[in-house]
Amino acid sequence: YSDFLTDTFHRQHDYLRISVTERCNLRCLYCMPEEGVPLSPPKELLTTPEIVMLSSLFVSQGVTKVRLTGGEPTVRRDIVPLMQQIGALRAHGLRELCLTTNGLSLHRKLEPMVDAGLTGVNLSLDTLDPWQFQLMTRRAGFGAVQKTIDRIFELNRAGAGIKFKINCVVMRGLNDREILPFVELTREKKVEVRFIEYMPFDGNKWSEGKMFSYQEMLDRIRSRYPDLQRVKGHKNDTSKTFQVPGFVGKLGFITSMTNNFCGTCNRLRITSDGNLKVCLFGNAEVSLRDIIRKVNRGDPIDDAAFKALEQAALERIGRLPPSSSQSLVVPNSEELLNVIG
Ligand code: GTP
Ligand code: 5AD
Ligand code: SF4
Repeated sequence: YSDFLTDTFHRQHDYLRISVTERCNLRCLYCMPEEGVPLSPPKELLTTPEIVMLSSLFVSQGVTKVRLTGGEPTVRRDIVPLMQQIGALRAHGLRELCLTTNGLSLHRKLEPMVDAGLTGVNLSLDTLDPWQFQLMTRRAGFGAVQKTIDRIFELNRAGAGIKFKINCVVMRGLNDREILPFVELTREKKVEVRFIEYMPFDGNKWSEGKMFSYQEMLDRIRSRYPDLQRVKGHKNDTSKTFQVPGFVGKLGFITSMTNNFCGTCNRLRITSDGNLKVCLFGNAEVSLRDIIRKVNRGDPIDDAAFKALEQAALERIGRLPPSSSQSLVVPNSEELLNVIG
């Protein structure tokens, strides 16, 4: 690993998340207001060649996993060609190319994406009920998501090997009654269902009362499945992994509110307008876009350009705060949206 990707806590940042659009075709209650989010002028957003260039740069420095997020990444018109170009970095050390998506328009694009090198899909889905879906996303579209799910299992039966996770944000009084049906889904399906604690960002009308905690989720699940077991996850997982013995799938819990996991976080983030962030809850940002546009108007990145980039990034980011003293600073919703998609 280059020093560039190792911080003072010896965390190797080998996982890069890139937000490829701010736009979304849903309006999930916990994420966006009905009218959507304010959009940046197009010239401030990263172009496809810029995204590919930055991906190459980070892969050349030791990044082995790239995840595309949004907004909703599939609303970017050229998402497939973009993935083909990033996928080509497999020859240079990229091992995983993943997508976080609401799955609404994915079923048709899935096959070319797998051909491009897609290895993982994290599907944001908070309910298995079409009416509840409409209530929580303020849009119709459950049928289309169902098609995506079916297509993933179909491709996997044919050997595609897509790592499949479902992200379910649990809100009290809305979808907490869906916890058990989601657990039941893992009886026969090879999928990891991850329950996420509802997080506040300004504008999403968070209240402590609407948050359903990790402990409550565990209690709820154990009341039906008393032999639920903790199982070993992967080194840099943000989630704690469990399984009901005998079930094919797994369960995960993302406990952002009650139990932070900063110590094992290995994520680097690039926002859709090209800012590099090392932490979801930190404000330090450096504009990679400005640097690459300035240093190297259209030319491939050479050593000199990389040095300039590295220097600027290190100067601006400084070093990370110690994870133990990290408190939850609530960023504004636009900023967070850009980062977690
Ligand atoms: P994999 O580990 O590759 O499956 O992906 P991921 O969990 O990093 O990505 P995903 O886009 O599926 O994000 C799932 C959830 O993880 C999001 O809802 C965020 O709440 C949470 N998350 C991801 N990274 C961070 C982080 O650095 N800090 C916090 N607090 N939450 C994060
Ligand atoms: N709290 C928790 N998770 C959220 N996500 C979006 N907004 C919130 C929130 N307020 C989740 C989405 C998606 C993931 C990237 O972030 O459900 O799966
Ligand atoms: Fe779109 Fe994801 Fe936000 Fe829902 S949570 S509105 S799918 S970006």
